Amino acid sequence: MTMEVDKTTIGKAAAIIRAGGLVAFPTETVYGLGADATNGLAVARIFEAKGRPRFNPLIVHVADMNAAREIADFDEQALALGAAFWPGPLTIVLPVSPRPKHRISELVTAGLDTVAIRVPAHPAARQLLDAALVPIAAPSANVSGRISPTRAHHVYDDFGTNVELIIDGGDAEAGLESTIVALAPQPMLLRPGAVAREDIEAHLKLRLGEFSETGIRSPGQLLSHYAPRAAMRLDVKATLPGEVLLGFGPDAPSDALNLSQIGDLREAAANLFAHLRALDAQSPAQIAVMPIPASGLGEAINDRLRRASFPRE
Ligand code: TXA
Ligand code: MG
Repeated sequence: MTMEVDKTTIGKAAAIIRAGGLVAFPTETVYGLGADATNGLAVARIFEAKGRPRFNPLIVHVADMNAAREIADFDEQALALGAAFWPGPLTIVLPVSPRPKHRISELVTAGLDTVAIRVPAHPAARQLLDAALVPIAAPSANVSGRISPTRAHHVYDDFGTNVELIIDGGDAEAGLESTIVALAPQPMLLRPGAVAREDIEAHLKLRLGEFSETGIRSPGQLLSHYAPRAAMRLDVKATLPGEVLLGFGPDAPSDALNLSQIGDLREAAANLFAHLRALDAQSPAQIAVMPIPASGLGEAINDRLRRASFPRE
């Protein structure tokens, strides 16, 4: 069932979460598929519904820094990052606190001694956390390997009635998943996302290290991910027969679906997944994508496009 955000919906959603069910809810990045992070069976249902091939660790969503500090060990640098970017689209990977202090399921952390935490900014997500009174584990609300959902109907398209409740909060504002940062052994960008690397580096007054594609630290870094059904070709200046074009900027042909007519990276990020879905729905031979600048949010946009275009069986 899809319901607009109001008190009744939030109450119903919180009751489903507390009873071990799944709720899809809006965040400022993409829609999440949420379950009670302290209930292993409920968390297992997330993996089952998504058809995730492996038990990748999940992000734990909490209402505020106090709730976060029960789950993870924050040093001064982590506290500063949280203070600067929470609530918001930043996920911080930290050492998990000893388990009597919290009851986060081992399935959420996939047996790691670290946990990924974020405090979302979207009002519906915040209301849900306040009403549910438990931390909520939530990956993006898409079937594994498919494009992340930025609208309620994307969630419905992937799951139909397999998800008890979908909270419709309109279009996701950022349209890209959260940026994931680990601070130990040294500050590192695990996944580019809705907060630009430059903003985090400016706050920490240091450069974030690079993750390596081979030593996968964050399974979201799997090469073929976020994939439409159609094949893709990037950095395209002219289309081939049978291709549809995903444009960017004022130079794009007027019949192309344009990520941002004025060449604004924030607008492009917000449109990325919805536009990919719309083009994929036309069942084209291939989706061609115009060049996107590499700086700021362009880093995350190009990252998602590379993964979407990676050849698959
Ligand atoms: O914007 C977002 O982050 C969305 C919304 C719903 O919050 N969630 C999201 O979750 O993108 P998901 O599961 O699609 O991606 C979570 C990423 C995965 O790549 C996972 O491997 C990584 O976080 N992750 C989780 N725990 C980790 C840990 N302890 N160490 C390293 N990576 C971790
Ligand atoms: Mg995902």
